[in-house]
Amino acid sequence: MKRDLLTKLIIGGVFLNTIILPITAESKNFDAVAVYKSKCAGCHGAKGEGKSIFPKIAGQSQAELSKKLNGYKNNSYGKARKTMMRPNVQNLSTQEITQIAEVVAKF
Ligand code: HEC
Repeated sequence: MKRDLLTKLIIGGVFLNTIILPITAESKNFDAVAVYKSKCAGCHGAKGEGKSIFPKIAGQSQAELSKKLNGYKNNSYGKARKTMMRPNVQNLSTQEITQIAEVVAKF
């Protein structure tokens, strides 16, 4: 009986690790600086300075930026061109958005 339980705990632990470890590893490997360069800089500029119809995003706090980016994602924030922004954040997790906002807030 006791041994059975121990076996189940060990198997359960191994099983959980195979699920949980890749998830945490993935968010640790997320490189917000690289993602900004490849996915955002083309419109907003290397330092978030903006150009023509693309707004300047530098100079805002991390909290403000996170709120706006999450807002584009769940459609609770946006101005006339929000449909241009939405696809850029749609596949980012809340944690990834926080990390990108941290990068932009430091520009
Ligand atoms: C195809 C061009 C394009 C790309 C790529 C793009 N954006 Fe935008 N972004 C826009 C436009 C246009 C707006 C203004 C949308 C509106 O009218 O609400 C905007 C708005 C924003 C705002 C809100 C500005 C404000 O103060 O209201 C933030 C923050 C932002 N973008 C960050 C990002 C980040 C971070 C990325 C990369 C993940 C990104 N953008 C990628 C075009 C783009």
